[in-house]
Amino acid sequence: MPRPQGRTFVLSGGSSGLGRATASLLSRMGANVVVVVRGAEQLPEARAQIAGLSGRGKVDVLVGDLASREAVEGLAGEIVNRFSEIHGLLHCAGIRLPDRRLGPDETELMFSVEYLAPFLLTQRVLGPLMAGAPSRIVVLTGEGHRKGFRAPRALDLKNLQGEREFDPIAHGKHLALAKILFVQELARRLDGTGVGTLSVAPGPSRTGLLRHYPWPLRMLGQAAFLVRGAKGAELGAEHVVHAATDPELEGVTGKYLLEGREVVPSPAARDPGMARRLWEVSEELLGERFLPGES
Ligand SMILES: NC(=O)c1ccc[n+]([C@@H]2O[C@H](COP(=O)([O-])OP(=O)(O)OC[C@H]3O[C@@H](n4cnc5c(N)ncnc54)[C@H](OP(=O)(O)O)[C@@H]3O)[C@@H](O)[C@H]2O)c1
Repeated sequence: MPRPQGRTFVLSGGSSGLGRATASLLSRMGANVVVVVRGAEQLPEARAQIAGLSGRGKVDVLVGDLASREAVEGLAGEIVNRFSEIHGLLHCAGIRLPDRRLGPDETELMFSVEYLAPFLLTQRVLGPLMAGAPSRIVVLTGEGHRKGFRAPRALDLKNLQGEREFDPIAHGKHLALAKILFVQELARRLDGTGVGTLSVAPGPSRTGLLRHYPWPLRMLGQAAFLVRGAKGAELGAEHVVHAATDPELEGVTGKYLLEGREVVPSPAARDPGMARRLWEVSEELLGERFLPGES
């Protein structure tokens, strides 16, 4: 993959945390950055933040609420219309909620933002990604998929939206596992296109991820992050940028990177049959087939 100067990277979650730090770093490296924020009301602040990025590349801000299919379709359409070539699509948005909440489409919110919207947006912008090849899709995930309290033993396709049982910590970990499986299946279906996919665990990072938790749960979560050696978002962002741009990762696809190193994820995250079934369940939810010729 050529160096990022002058190349175009689209990032969700650009208003805070790892996404914002990643946008800033890419901009300083001379990349053109297209930052997605949740709502139009965030545009003035996002533009002010972005004005402070002081990078050499061009910066655009787009609006897209990842909880709404209509908004994701609109966002995808705008990306495809405005950018004929994309060199990186970085799914940095995320949300942790203390209870099960449904979005405008009656879909559980954490599942929408962290899994279903990235799945759909990826499919919709494959044209510019293929035109920009070699290009990369990076999905943020975490070691929670296999470590610590309530780590999942396997993906439960009947509880993707916490419909059977909802535990906020277990649900976040379950989605981390789903994202790793998605990346593997996507890599398989994109074989030969020049579009690579990587799942990236940036390491515990001090961000606002737990801000929707009530304070006792937030304190508990933050304490767990600190015990695990949480660092500033800028360090996590370095790992995201590495995954998106490092020429040494050319040809490395479908893999899981932990803080910059390729490692083997949990056995549950290495189940090709489950990765395929998850893809099919996603298609059923969206009422459409994607990359079917490769299945
Ligand atoms: N922090 C960590 O230690 C850590 C470790 C491993 C993996 N991760 C993963 O990294 C990703 C980013 O987390 P973070 O720590 O940077 O959290 P963060 O600071 O809370 O950032 C999350 C971003 O997602 C955006 N977002 C949330 N709901 C959205 C929606 N409906 N539509 C569009 N954007 C939405 C937020 O926008 P608003 O500001 O508008 O809400 C924010 O910009 C997540 O997927 C998380 O699972 C984090």
